[in-house]
Amino acid sequence: MRALKAAFFVLALLPGLLLLLRGSGLVSPGLGANPVELIQDTLGLWGLRLLLLTLCLSPLAWLLRRPWPVALRRMAGLFAFAYILLHFLVWALLDQALDWPAITEDIVERPFITIGVAAMLMLVPLAVTSTRGWQRRLGARRWLQLHRLVYPAAILGVWHYFWQVKADIREPLFYAVLLAALLLARLYHRRQARL
Ligand code: HEM
Repeated sequence: MRALKAAFFVLALLPGLLLLLRGSGLVSPGLGANPVELIQDTLGLWGLRLLLLTLCLSPLAWLLRRPWPVALRRMAGLFAFAYILLHFLVWALLDQALDWPAITEDIVERPFITIGVAAMLMLVPLAVTSTRGWQRRLGARRWLQLHRLVYPAAILGVWHYFWQVKADIREPLFYAVLLAALLLARLYHRRQARL
């Protein structure tokens, strides 16, 4: 399990590391004509991919009847949050130059940004309470209830992507179908558990 976690850690770091290497000129191609947009898009995409991967892990464990996918859940979720937070920070710092009135105006007036921020805020308590200590403090029931916030966060995340994509909708469509399948799998599993 430790080797698996270490391998996952390295793999999840790679997209961010690659951005750094491309930015420093050590790896080509570099960051292109619009580096801020490229960095922001890459971080947003990997945040979303890792968030959806996190949601795949429990159904995978049920399917395989093996515990190892669940052991990766916390790390995958935290990496997703880290990429999404960086995606936000790059936007606020490099795109908006920390101009708070402009930031507030964008959040209020551009719906795709509004739902992106809502999704990110939903993930904050999940990241904070992801530790064993918080699990104990909240108790299993309340902890699980709180962590159901990951579903609306993922729905808003996919929606946010869909909303701002210009022409080719194949990738957001794939994520929307995957998310719908994952939600149905959860519902089915909960019903089976109750029977
Ligand atoms: C769960 C939260 C979020 C997820 C999963 C997410 C994901 C994404 C994805 C996948 C893209 C498209 C990347 C591409 O076109 O290749 C994107 C674009 C974008 N996101 Fe987010 N995002 C989130 C939150 C936010 C927040 C909080 C902000 C800022 C307040 C934000 C601002 C933007 C902007 C401005 C773009 C368009 C960048 C461009 O001009 O190409 N996102 N996001």
